[in-house]
Amino acid sequence: MNKPMKLTILGATGSIGTSTIDVMLRHPESFAAYALVGHKNVDLMLELASKVLPELVVMTDESAYALLEGELPKNIRLECGMAAAEAAAAHDDVDMVMAAMVGAAGLPATLAAVRAGKRVGLANKECLVTAGRLFMQAAKKYGAEVVPVDSEHAAVHQALAGHDRDSVTRIILTASGGPFRNRDPESLESVTVEEAVAHPNWSMGAKISIDSATMMNKALELIEAKWLFDAKAEQLSAIIHPQSIVHAMVEYRDGSVLAQLAMPDMRSPIVYAMQAEPRLESGIPWLELAQTQLLEFQAVDEARFPAMKLVKPVLAGEDSLAIALNAANEVANQAFQDGKIGFMAIVSTVEQVLAKTNNQAVQSLDEVWQLDADARRLANEVIKA
Ligand SMILES: NC(=O)c1ccc[n+]([C@@H]2O[C@H](COP(=O)([O-])OP(=O)(O)OC[C@H]3O[C@@H](n4cnc5c(N)ncnc54)[C@H](OP(=O)(O)O)[C@@H]3O)[C@@H](O)[C@H]2O)c1
Repeated sequence: MNKPMKLTILGATGSIGTSTIDVMLRHPESFAAYALVGHKNVDLMLELASKVLPELVVMTDESAYALLEGELPKNIRLECGMAAAEAAAAHDDVDMVMAAMVGAAGLPATLAAVRAGKRVGLANKECLVTAGRLFMQAAKKYGAEVVPVDSEHAAVHQALAGHDRDSVTRIILTASGGPFRNRDPESLESVTVEEAVAHPNWSMGAKISIDSATMMNKALELIEAKWLFDAKAEQLSAIIHPQSIVHAMVEYRDGSVLAQLAMPDMRSPIVYAMQAEPRLESGIPWLELAQTQLLEFQAVDEARFPAMKLVKPVLAGEDSLAIALNAANEVANQAFQDGKIGFMAIVSTVEQVLAKTNNQAVQSLDEVWQLDADARRLANEVIKA
């Protein structure tokens, strides 16, 4: 019998992290944990570590590490900080890394996994948005297999499998339209954080839920798709599909369109990223199309969702624009969560930062971090003003 695949889960205490653990525990013969990596959530880490019994737990936040000291079941080592997370991702015993930290903070540890040639399940889309070129170059150089976890990209991955890439004409990502798809645009200024995180179809972390409400999430996903599938800006588009059953479509030169369908539950793309074939049971409900009364599709209204207009020059432009879009969005998304700005100011902050950003390619991670810091500073200035 084969040994179980050993995983390091970055962002183990998050929505994707806990769904990954759910899948892992369903298949103990196939998967085991080397390390669980969390940031601040000590109580949940204690609960997860007691169930999963990894060899190592890492808390990237120092005070969370101090609180967890002496509390873990014996034989589980505890380490602290981002360097420990990077080492846990690159360790020789690890077969696969689930990259599920949130934001650009996840880049160093995910890159460490890539440089160690691991199979990487990539949920942390901000890695590709900020450093797509360097990330994919490193994956090629070190032989790391990067498998998307985002449901739309997992769908594209499946619709591309076994087909000639040169025959692809379009890649179409679906978007639910989030909680404000039908809301009067005039009333959006006053929406609360609770309303913005209440996604109609998906249960997700706060940041991505708000990104879905602004559709900045789809903007990030289009940039992610550009790097993952080596696609041109004009091949990429999004379409509103409120039911979130069709996750993406790939159109071929002969007019065939291949779509992937599943109930909206992240355990499906997660299990696919962990082991594509033979397919494993994921625990998600079966899709009963006869009971799904309607599958609707409509064009994205860019007046309602200005993020989708904003992303077009970013997709066609150089790396600096994507870095600025992501960093400004992280700052503005957090400022909205902290009650410092209204909902509509999230995208307008990003727009103002982009207007002040030069369109330039980057050659090194140092340049990525410099541009990221510049955009965060500009975003904070816009918010203060
Ligand atoms: N949720 C989904 O359905 C979904 C779907 C597709 C893609 N994604 C992507 O997957 C990633 C994770 O999303 P999520 O919804 O799972 O987020 P989440 O529930 O907010 O969890 C985020 C995880 O990252 C950790 N974290 C937060 N800040 C950190 C920092 N500064 N340094 C290191 N770790 C940090 C958190 O640790 P603590 O909680 O311990 O502080 C937690 O483990 C995002 O990039 C998102 O866009 C998510």
